[in-house]
Amino acid sequence: MTDLIERMSDFDAHFTLTDKLGEGTFGQVYKVVSQNNATEVYALKILPQYELNPTMENFFQTEATVLQDHQLRYTIQSYGYFNIAIARIKYRGILLEYCPGYPLSEMRQRNPELLHSWNIEQTVLYLMKQVALGLVELHSYDLAHHDLKADNVLIRNLQIKLIDLGLVRKKDTVFPNNGFYGAPYLSSPEAMDPRDQIGVSMENIQKRDIWSFGCMFFHLLTNKYPFEKPLDTLGEFRLRLLLGERSQINPHLFAPKSHAIIEKLLVALSFRPSANELLNLIRSYTKTGYK
Ligand SMILES: Nc1ncnc2c1ncn2[C@@H]1O[C@H](COP(=O)(O)OP(=O)(O)O)[C@@H](O)[C@H]1O
Ligand SMILES: [Mg+2]
Repeated sequence: MTDLIERMSDFDAHFTLTDKLGEGTFGQVYKVVSQNNATEVYALKILPQYELNPTMENFFQTEATVLQDHQLRYTIQSYGYFNIAIARIKYRGILLEYCPGYPLSEMRQRNPELLHSWNIEQTVLYLMKQVALGLVELHSYDLAHHDLKADNVLIRNLQIKLIDLGLVRKKDTVFPNNGFYGAPYLSSPEAMDPRDQIGVSMENIQKRDIWSFGCMFFHLLTNKYPFEKPLDTLGEFRLRLLLGERSQINPHLFAPKSHAIIEKLLVALSFRPSANELLNLIRSYTKTGYK
C-alpha cells in the first residue's frame, strides 16, 4: 500500500492511462497500467480538482473508503483515494479493481440475438440472482448501494460485479442531506421524499435497493421502466409512484416467474422483502422442478 501511495504521487513516472472505460455523472474512468508490470492493471475514476465541490468530494470519499478494507465477491474493490497529477493537470482519483466487461445496460445492444430468443427470461433471471447475491453480501456489511441500476452493474462471461459506490449509505454514519442524486426511474418513493431522509434505519435504506432491483429487473426484461417520468417534477413523479401508476407493459406474458418476483418488490416499504428474502424468493422460482 505504501508503495502504491508513493507511485500514485508520481503518477506519470509509474503508470499509463490506456483506454477510457466510461463516463458517468461523477467522473471519468480510465484503464491504468503499471509501466513496470503490464499485468498490474487498475481502473481509475478521476475528476479535475477545479471541478471538485463539497458534494462531489463527499461522493468520491465515500466510494474510495467504504469498501477499502473488505474484499467482496460481487462488488468492485477500492484501493484508495489520491491527489494525482496527470500531464500536469491535478485530479482527485479513486483507484479501483479493473473489471473487464460491459455495463448490463448494454446487454441488449451487445447480444441482439437475445431479443428474439425464447430464453431471455432465463438469462435475466440468472444475472439478477447474482445481483441479489451482491445485495445480500453488501447489506451484510451494513451498507446499502443506493444507486442500483443497469449502468452500475458490469458483466463479463455472465458474471456480474456491482460498481459505483458514490451514493452508498453506511450504518451509523451521518451523510450530508444534500438533495436527491439517484436515478428517478429506479428510485423508491421514500428515497425521493426530502422529509424522509433523517433518522431512517439502515434496514429501511437497504429496502430502497430492493425497489431499484425490481425496476432494473423489469427494465432488463422489457427495455422499459415500470414507472416512467416523462415531464413531471420529482414530486409529481413520486405521487404517481405512490398511486401505483404502472407501465402498460406486462412481462407476465413472456416472463411469468420474473413477473411474479417483481410484483413482490415494487410495493410499499413495509411489504418489501429484505435482500435475503429476495434471494430465497428467486431461488424458489428457479430451483429445478418448478413449473
Ligand atoms: N472498475 C471498473 N472497471 C471497468 N470499468 C469501469 C469500472 N468502474 C467504472 N467503469 C466504467 O465507467 C462507467 C462509469 O463508472 P461509474 O462508477 O458508474 O461512474 P459514475 O459515478 O460517474 O456513474 C461505468 O458504467 C463502466 O462502464
Ligand atoms: Mg454510474
